[in-house]
Amino acid sequence: MTLNKNTPSSLLRVAVIFCITFCYLMLSACQTLAATDVDSNGNYQSRTIHSPDGIAKFYMGREIAKVMGHTEALWLERPSREFEEQPTKLVNALNFKPTDIVADIGAGTGYLSFRIAQKVPLGKVLAVDIQPEMLDIINFLKKENSITNVEPILGSITDAKLPLNSVDLVLMVDTYHELSNPYEVMRGVVKALKPNGRVALVEYRRENPFIPIKALHKMTQKQVCKEMSAVGLQWRETQSFLPTQHLMIFEKIS
Ligand SMILES: C[S@@+](CC[C@H](N)C(=O)[O-])C[C@H]1O[C@@H](n2cnc3c(N)ncnc32)[C@H](O)[C@@H]1O
Repeated sequence: MTLNKNTPSSLLRVAVIFCITFCYLMLSACQTLAATDVDSNGNYQSRTIHSPDGIAKFYMGREIAKVMGHTEALWLERPSREFEEQPTKLVNALNFKPTDIVADIGAGTGYLSFRIAQKVPLGKVLAVDIQPEMLDIINFLKKENSITNVEPILGSITDAKLPLNSVDLVLMVDTYHELSNPYEVMRGVVKALKPNGRVALVEYRRENPFIPIKALHKMTQKQVCKEMSAVGLQWRETQSFLPTQHLMIFEKIS
């Protein structure tokens, strides 16, 4: 049977499509109108319509995620992490020299810092975090395991407090997406890098909708590259051997 174009059901369908389109356009317009700059440089915008997992602050089109609190420290140390994320493979792939100075920004409990410390016996790991409770855990584990080449640093939300021109590799694992001031922190990172220094970002792959992590805690390669280039970092390579995360390497544009 052919439906007459003017039957009540087709009119209803047109009306529903019209209403949905109208609501969508109104929401988009509200969102645009509600976006206000939250810094004098225009780097960040605040929007009223945003994800419950975010802080309502947007950077280069991306909403910044809420910081993972220190009460979730045990989750970072979960035994299944080795199988799920394969951090040993990650640390091996970073090809450290024994003398390297490494900054682990957003170190949390030092899960990665302590693993890297073994690879740089003549160098050190600067374990930076903004939560003093995380640094307390690092100091406890450092003493407990007699590790001398991990140096905890209390950073601020805008500054990782790294010495200038001093670091061979800056690593951020599952952290960059929750920096409340990524532009300022990364400008400081660039200044802290030695001339051939590298930045390694490990983020859950947002391109893959089947990775069971909240959307704001995942990033696409395209977005990461856009944000790194804004602070003077050039993409070198992406390695895809980890089960759920990208390992992306950047260098200073000289
Ligand atoms: C999800 S945890 C990851 C911890 C660690 N990298 C790991 O993989 O086990 C993110 C950490 O980044 C820290 N963080 C958030 N913003 C930061 C900032 N601006 N500077 C330094 N650390 C920050 C948080 O306090 C938290 O400990």
